Amino acid sequence: QMAAEPVNVSEFQELARLALPKMYYDFYCGGAEDQHTLRENLEAFRRITFRPRILIDVSRVDLSTSILGYNISMPIIVAPTAMHQLALPEGPIREVATARAAATSNTIMILSFTSSCTIEEVAASCNAVRFYQLYIYKKRDITATLVQRAEKNGYKAIVLTADTPRLGRREADIKNKMIAPRLKNLEGLFSTKVTSDGGSDLEAYAKETMDPSLCWKDIGWLRSITKLPILIKGVLTREDGKIKFIPRLNSVVLTLDILPFAARKAVQVGVDGIIVSNHGARQLDYSPATISVLEEVVRAVEGRVPVLMDGGIRRGTDVFKALALGAQAVLVGRPVIYGLAAKGERGVQRVLEMLKDEFELTMALSGCPSVKDITRRHVTTEHERLH
Ligand code: FNR
Repeated sequence: QMAAEPVNVSEFQELARLALPKMYYDFYCGGAEDQHTLRENLEAFRRITFRPRILIDVSRVDLSTSILGYNISMPIIVAPTAMHQLALPEGPIREVATARAAATSNTIMILSFTSSCTIEEVAASCNAVRFYQLYIYKKRDITATLVQRAEKNGYKAIVLTADTPRLGRREADIKNKMIAPRLKNLEGLFSTKVTSDGGSDLEAYAKETMDPSLCWKDIGWLRSITKLPILIKGVLTREDGKIKFIPRLNSVVLTLDILPFAARKAVQVGVDGIIVSNHGARQLDYSPATISVLEEVVRAVEGRVPVLMDGGIRRGTDVFKALALGAQAVLVGRPVIYGLAAKGERGVQRVLEMLKDEFELTMALSGCPSVKDITRRHVTTEHERLH
């Protein structure tokens, strides 16, 4: 018998499994191909242990932090995830419920490009700090319109997801013949209904829309059409982490050079932050677990811009490990969906609260009264144990 109130994120996952049709549950929890990276995203956290310090006053533990100048109650923010309508079919609120829960937790919500609610609906119904996640379509004017709508509606940053020139092969969706609902944000912009012949509609839709020619120089184009800060989501290597920060030049379109740099590709574009992510293991299988490459990227970035990470955060201890390895904050994807599917807005709120409480306890038990007290020397990686 299942306890009425779940006590951790995994129990929320089980409730979500019971609540959702198989097609949608598989869509939410699945990864690409062999799902090796999906397992690794979780397993890699288990191989990191703590070096807790004792006899430090932790009668007050301060979890608050700031990202791009926005103060938040904890370094845990809501990752962009697609189509909340599938998790919360009743009523029109969907991403609005998620955004409200983020607001209650006093944290940031990143609205997915492929949301069920519109940019405007989410903006109108909650006062959470919101970022807007962007995909770049072959039809650039569609992208530009959405960026302008996000800016006009008070979203504070653009999160450009850069790991999806094509959609990863998600075999559960292919088998289930996953049906893609229409995207409300694109009404009147992109009307073609795309269906696959006997596979995943999502894959067919992505193939039709996503621009696989997108490259680093296009960040310059994006900067030319918005004043918002830009974060790049999907960095997994030091090569891509070597992004040189160029101060934003007011309304000047930057001419970008791709420079050879110490025999590796170094890219000189202006970005305001990067997110270490493998898209929740849904794109390239056998990509490394994000927590295992975080430090490599953090070193390459050399503090020029904030580094965030996502993938496999299920416990407060995971949040602590990511911060110890240099992340300024983490994003949570599936846990939020599990909360939404199990108990709507209240479920998302509970999931965020659980992670927060666990993280606070981890800080106390490790001897860190504030997030800036969390250092590299508070964790041991498997690599360090073996050498
Ligand atoms: C995603 N993710 C994602 N990312 C993005 O940039 N745009 C999107 O629309 C989506 N959609 C999406 C749907 C679902 C069902 C999942 C599980 C994930 C990736 C997401 O932002 C994030 O990188 C991962 O979810 C993080 O891993 P965890 O927390 O799910 O393990």
